[in-house]
Amino acid sequence: MNGEQLESVVYASNMGSYEQACKRFQWKDVESHFTWSRTGKVNMAHEAIDRHVYEGRGHKTALLYCDGQREEAYTFMQLCMESNRFGNVLRKYNVAKGDRVFIFMPRSPELIIALLGILKVGAVAGPLFEAFMETAVKDRLEDSGAVAIVTTPELLGRIRRDELPELKHIFVVGDCSSLDDGSLIDFKAEVNQASYEFEPEWLDREDGLIIHYTSGSTGKPKGVYHVQNAMIQHYYTGKVVLDLQEDDVYWCTADPGWVTGTSYGIFAPWLNGVTNVIRGGRFSPENWYRTIERYQVNIWYSAPTAFRMLMGANEEILDKYDLSSLRHVLSVGEPLNPEVVRWGWKAYGQRIHDTWWMTETGGQLICNYPQMAIKPGSMGKPLPGIEAAILDDEGRELPPNRMGHLAIRTGWPSMMRKIWNNPVKYDEYFRFNGWYVSGDSAYMDEEGYFWFQGRIDDVINSSGERIGPFEVESKLVEHPAVAEAGVIGKPDPLRGEIIKAFISLREGYQPSDELKEEIYGFVREGLSAHAAPREIEFKDRLPKTRSGKIMRRVLKAWELQLPTGDLSTIED
Ligand code: WTA
Repeated sequence: MNGEQLESVVYASNMGSYEQACKRFQWKDVESHFTWSRTGKVNMAHEAIDRHVYEGRGHKTALLYCDGQREEAYTFMQLCMESNRFGNVLRKYNVAKGDRVFIFMPRSPELIIALLGILKVGAVAGPLFEAFMETAVKDRLEDSGAVAIVTTPELLGRIRRDELPELKHIFVVGDCSSLDDGSLIDFKAEVNQASYEFEPEWLDREDGLIIHYTSGSTGKPKGVYHVQNAMIQHYYTGKVVLDLQEDDVYWCTADPGWVTGTSYGIFAPWLNGVTNVIRGGRFSPENWYRTIERYQVNIWYSAPTAFRMLMGANEEILDKYDLSSLRHVLSVGEPLNPEVVRWGWKAYGQRIHDTWWMTETGGQLICNYPQMAIKPGSMGKPLPGIEAAILDDEGRELPPNRMGHLAIRTGWPSMMRKIWNNPVKYDEYFRFNGWYVSGDSAYMDEEGYFWFQGRIDDVINSSGERIGPFEVESKLVEHPAVAEAGVIGKPDPLRGEIIKAFISLREGYQPSDELKEEIYGFVREGLSAHAAPREIEFKDRLPKTRSGKIMRRVLKAWELQLPTGDLSTIED
């Protein structure tokens, strides 16, 4: 039976016979686990939540939520029922298959219920990180043509309703009576009146699931569009990489505003039917360790910046909490330093398993598996079913130990299906026939382990969050004092990189610390806190090409005191 074959793949990869697992692997064995293998139709919310109710897990705890103020538990049955109700509300307002519906709010059970409801009516979910400010929110809603949004009274003011003609419905979670001009919909009041009875919209595998906006080195953020089919990857990697088992309690620390927070904060754990912890509120070592202790978390997925912060925390904190429930610890989003892996072994008695993937890939691709020998500093090996390679600038495969473009053979289930409104951008990823080109540079060693080297483009990775320099530069030049701006990532021991802006001022403005503060605040308030430049340097002029493009490469060389390289295209 197909199910057994998948289990044997899992078993084999857990036992380290990776080559054997690769040989035997077939995607169709994974697919056989889903409803569509019988009906041909699918819905992520059904597969992740409702299916467990029909299969006898209705009373199992699906969600453990806490944020320091609220602490709540929901069974699969409760999530099924509550999201049915919100599905009914959405239908009442004629939100239907294919519509883009955004979620802009801090983590909470309502966020989860809203997301599941959106999926149940067949709409495409668009999660937005709560720290986004007006411009960032507007760009994303406008580009995607969102028809509805779920938000909170606190964040409502950042949505420029008068400039978004396509945005018809605003659902507010929380008291909006004082804000209401008749156009707001009270989420809770509507949900409480709605019926529990609901038939999900049955979809095809290539129908839409989610759009995550992410940054490139040029242009505004790109809407990375994923389809229902991605669930195959989420389910499979939940088994073989996260090692999810029936009685596990799993915690992914990422916010659903980023892809890790949906693919691995929502889809993978619930497709596998495990108990999922979601923690809101701020990071602190105490809060985090308390969460592990209190819920007896077995499997923990976080990011290098968080591990570095925990590593930097007072050693005694570790003695205060019982972390012995941990069985498997994973990391994603930025390079995982070898010393962090070694520290994790000492601190938690666990090897931290690095995983590599991107918003565009929808799911994990290159990983360290549970029982695999870890080489600290390496991202691991491609999953069974995934072919990865290092290509040169012409798209030819390079032999081991040569650095080049990290590329993946096209056709894995969770590959993005488009960049919203931007087919040209989409095609750039696939410029070498048969390959997806990641934009990362890496090499592969003789044993098939992949080693991350850096980004090939100018994308900045600060605390695991991707920031496009163009978006920051565009905001900077809106400030009255700024004539021109060039933005780079500056290496930082804690955050990986921080954002540094080089700025030339307009006539009449003098460099000063107050002006730096003001410009920082301007980006922070207009775009978002994580996109604001922590460091600003004023320059009389910025290096530019003859066609007027600011040369970030030269700015970076200045910063790192490296040779500036070929300057033949510079202006003067
Ligand atoms: C980087 C996050 C080194 C990389 C899921 C990639 C990593 C970008 C790793 C994607 C890793 C992700 N080691 N770098 N294990 N994982 N990255 O789209 O540059 O927010 O291209 O997706 O993060 O970031 P994104």
